[in-house]
Order: sequence, then C-alpha cells, then structure tokens
Amino acid sequence: MNVLGIGGSPRKDGNTDILLAEAMKGAKDSGAQTQEIYLRDYKISPCLGCHACDEKGLCVQKDDMQKIYHNLAQSGHIILASPIYFYGVSSHTKLMIDRCQCMWAAKYRLNKPVSGKGSKRNGAFISVGATKGKNLFEGARLTVKYFFDAIDVIYHDDLLIRQVDAKGEIKEHPDYLKKAYELGRQIAG
Ligand SMILES: Cc1cc2nc3c(=O)[nH]c(=O)nc-3n(C[C@H](O)[C@H](O)[C@H](O)COP(=O)(O)O)c2cc1C
Repeated sequence: MNVLGIGGSPRKDGNTDILLAEAMKGAKDSGAQTQEIYLRDYKISPCLGCHACDEKGLCVQKDDMQKIYHNLAQSGHIILASPIYFYGVSSHTKLMIDRCQCMWAAKYRLNKPVSGKGSKRNGAFISVGATKGKNLFEGARLTVKYFFDAIDVIYHDDLLIRQVDAKGEIKEHPDYLKKAYELGRQIAG
C-alpha cells in the first residue's frame, strides 16, 4: 500500500521535516510508493463551522484543501508530522484537521465511505517539542487520534521527541532518525 507523508511544520528543513523524510525513506525501502506533502505549501482557510458538510459530506470552501481531500481519500497509510506548538499541533496542521470535519460528517452522519481504499489503513504520528514536560504530547496525540479516526485511519504508532528545539538539531540525534526510519518501514510493511 502507498504511504502519504504530511508535514505540518512551517519551518522548512526543520526537525519535523527531517524526521518525516527519514520515515518516508523507511517506507520507500520497504517497497511502498510514497508521496510527501507540506501543508505550508497549501492555502487552507479555517473551517467555518457552517455545517454545510452535514448534508453531503463535502466542504463548500474551494481552496487547496480540495487537493488534500483527494490525497487523504486515495492514500494508503498515513504519516502525519507536526511540531508541538503550545502543547498542540501546529496551526498548519490544525487547519487541515478542522477542515476534515466533512470527512467526519461523511463517516458518522451519512455513513459514507471516506476512503477509496478498501483495506485497513494505518496512521503514525511524529512530533517534536523543545521541552521535557510529561504531558507535552497529550493534547496533540488526542487531536491526531480523532483526526485519524475521522478519515478512517487507525492510530498505529507514534514517535514523540522531547528537548529538540533549534532548526535541524534533530540531526545530532541519530538514534531518533533511526527510530523515524524504522517507523516508516514498519507502517509500510
Ligand atoms: C509558536 C511556537 C510554539 C511552541 N510551543 C511549544 C510548546 O508548547 N512546547 C514545546 O516543548 N515546544 C514548543 N515549541 C518549540 C518547537 O516545538 C520546537 O522548536 C520544534 O523542534 C520545532 O520543530 P520544527 O523545526 O519542525 O519547526 C514551540 C515553537 C513555536 C514556534
């Protein structure tokens, strides 16, 4: 099955990008076709909360999210990567997630399939934050868990890294890069 990688950091070539790239390398090495998208390259408006999607399971806003809906529906497994921002996912990531309310509505209100894939899809979450707080990933993990559920993806695995802050600092931690690579291999395998 193919693997879609979604990068949610606004910082190009930062820690999240590097970890995602390693994971996608792992997925590719285990034979998957891979595609990476970076949310900072898309213009995504916030969810309007208009509930128009309750009718047909489709969003009325016509922006770059339409391309991402297609990716989300057609992909196999998904790896979502976001830095921690104020104990949650980045705003780029949250914008995309909120706009998936229409997929939630399709699944739970309209009983419609949200994915073109017949088989089980797994999801993995990669995240990195600067501090070492015990609850650092709690908010983000819950958000991603319910996002995956809405788009019919099972929360299969995660890689959550504390105390990495400066741009590219993750490269000083080959053990984390290896873990990201292994996560990618595993999800595709
Ligand atoms: C707006 C903003 C909010 C942040 N909030 C947190 C936070 O709540 N907890 C934390 O540990 N790190 C926080 N950080 C630090 C980032 O998570 C950290 O620098 C991370 O390595 C950035 O990943 P990137 O290089 O992929 O952008 C924040 C950074 C920014 C810019």
